[in-house]
Amino acid sequence: REYGKGGKPKSKYDFMTIDEKQVEVDKIRTGIKQRCLFNDSACKEIEAKIEEVVRKAANGEYKKNTVDTAPLRNKYFFGEGYTYGSHMEARGPGMERLYPKEGEESVDPIPEWIHEMVVQPLLRAQLIPPDFINSAVINDYQPGGCIVSHIDPYHIFDRPIVTVSFFSSSALSFGCKFEFRPIRVSNPVLSVKLPRGGVTLISGFAADEITHCIRPQDTPHRRAVVILRR
Ligand code: OGA
Ligand code: MN
Repeated sequence: REYGKGGKPKSKYDFMTIDEKQVEVDKIRTGIKQRCLFNDSACKEIEAKIEEVVRKAANGEYKKNTVDTAPLRNKYFFGEGYTYGSHMEARGPGMERLYPKEGEESVDPIPEWIHEMVVQPLLRAQLIPPDFINSAVINDYQPGGCIVSHIDPYHIFDRPIVTVSFFSSSALSFGCKFEFRPIRVSNPVLSVKLPRGGVTLISGFAADEITHCIRPQDTPHRRAVVILRR
């Protein structure tokens, strides 16, 4: 293995020339759209609703598969739930599957407040077509929480993938290589800021051809994201 400054792992991008890397960065950028749609008061209202979800989950008011808790990151699935391996014998890319829409394994429907307070502003801004969104996931990260490099499975999710950030700002990094125990992350090819109240849409090359992640150092404070997909 090769390591760079500060013991960071090296990724294939560390072996590219500046020009080769720039070509990659340009391709990623074509697939990213960002808008600031939610002001401080809108954020505060939505953040209060996220707190309510957290409380309901802690009270056992949701179906089993709606809630997925982990030490530094809890997830809440609405509309459509999916499993990506941790509860299955088979895990890894391509093995993710949707839960059935009815019965034991199904998740709770998308809460009305998500439609009204988060999806409606996106529709008004013409960022997504009407009735496109049928899945809403809330990731709630504690300080130092992260999500390792991945591609949102194409056999499950259409593009674009829409995210809206709350509580604090973070950054979305592309093309990072992760190593574990101790956790170490290579330099990203590109890192884009995710401001509180900011909407980020990813599609094309940015969604399909390169991995994205949230590095632990980019979540210094609690942050939640509402991920809206079809
Ligand atoms: C995801 C993801 C990014 C974020 O959950 O698939 O990429 O902004 N989340 O937290
Ligand atoms: Mn993702």
